[in-house]
Amino acid sequence: METPGKPRIRSIEDFEYQGKTVLLRVDINSPIDPVSKKIVNDNRITMSLPTIEYLVRKGAKVAMIAHQGDTLDYQNLIPLAEHAEKLSQKLGMAVAYIDDVAGPAAQAVVKSLRPGQIVLLGNLRYLAEEISSFENVVKLKPEEMLHTFLVRHLAPLADYYVNDAFAAAHRSAPSMVAFQELLPSAAGFLFFNEISALTKVLEGPERPAVFVLGGLKISDAYGMMEQVLKRGTADRILACGVTGMVMLMAKGYKLGQAAEKFLKDRSLDVFLEQSKEFLRDYPDKFVLPLDLAYEQEGRRMEVGIEQLPVEAMFPDIGRRTIELFKQEIGRAGTIFVNGPAGVYENPLFAEGTRELWTAIAKAKGYSVVGGGDSVSATEKFVDPKQINYICTAGGAMVRFLSGDKLPLIAAMEKAYQRQ
Ligand code: 3PG
Repeated sequence: METPGKPRIRSIEDFEYQGKTVLLRVDINSPIDPVSKKIVNDNRITMSLPTIEYLVRKGAKVAMIAHQGDTLDYQNLIPLAEHAEKLSQKLGMAVAYIDDVAGPAAQAVVKSLRPGQIVLLGNLRYLAEEISSFENVVKLKPEEMLHTFLVRHLAPLADYYVNDAFAAAHRSAPSMVAFQELLPSAAGFLFFNEISALTKVLEGPERPAVFVLGGLKISDAYGMMEQVLKRGTADRILACGVTGMVMLMAKGYKLGQAAEKFLKDRSLDVFLEQSKEFLRDYPDKFVLPLDLAYEQEGRRMEVGIEQLPVEAMFPDIGRRTIELFKQEIGRAGTIFVNGPAGVYENPLFAEGTRELWTAIAKAKGYSVVGGGDSVSATEKFVDPKQINYICTAGGAMVRFLSGDKLPLIAAMEKAYQRQ
């Protein structure tokens, strides 16, 4: 990519791979069923195929690294065996899986690869360093990450590092930003596609720009809200999912002990103070739920926020909120969506997400949907072709749109200058 003002990043097509070992970082972190832990949407796996196929065609020995989360932030205990099976089916060739990330067993498999063969290594986040290094507790610089177990053991086995994991570009983890310090590094096809599509939106969003923020991964939402508010990227933020609940509490509503305990047990109440600041500094930007849905004896019930507290969980927004949000969506020039309105997998609580998604699909504004669960919801409730751009990324998308320099992009640019 050599356009002036654009990131200067080496493309996958710049190197020769015949007989070389390529460490390929992909993001195939997929939405999973909360009970069976099986993958419910494999869009990210499908979107990773062109880069993998290219490397295989060019005779590379491909060692793939990736992570998989669970239904909550940073519960990352799920093996990648099912991902390897899906990759094998889609590629029409064997993709071996070893449930070891960088230990002796993983190293032996990587060393034994022959040209055109692929192995997927274990869930990167079995290694605590993959998370601790980007969380505030430790925060290592890429050059300090060279001492991590992952980099010490895998870098010496590889000739090249290729990153096609734009969806994790906001994670300054060893697998994302450290190998570039040691190996000739390039980005894959999906990476470039995502960047060029999002750059178009970032450079001139039609106003008003409406952000629909839902889902459970609320740290992402809070990570970017401040930026999009401060920089003026967001004109309206429609808060639903867990973000909506926390914002309501910040506004002084008591949800009820059950819901408040749910938030506290997951340390989500840490976002309360920041929410209060947002509401104080940007009172006109937020649109909060007017009512919430809950379950009673197997039936969907709704409660207006003025009638709270209720002893229940709130897995969806109520009908008044749906109508209010639909009006905002209808008026929007640009709509960014990250995270569903509720637990739409349960038919009792699908209404909020189904209705909002239908409104987004029909809206005249330019729509961008990102994030694993949001993409599954798109496939479930609307014709994906009605959405202007479906991004594999969620957290990385919103941070990119907020104008932040993402750690992956910084690392790839640094590698470009060095090579
Ligand atoms: C995502 O789904 O946003 C990326 O795969 C990053 O996952 P994480 O939020 O668990 O770091």
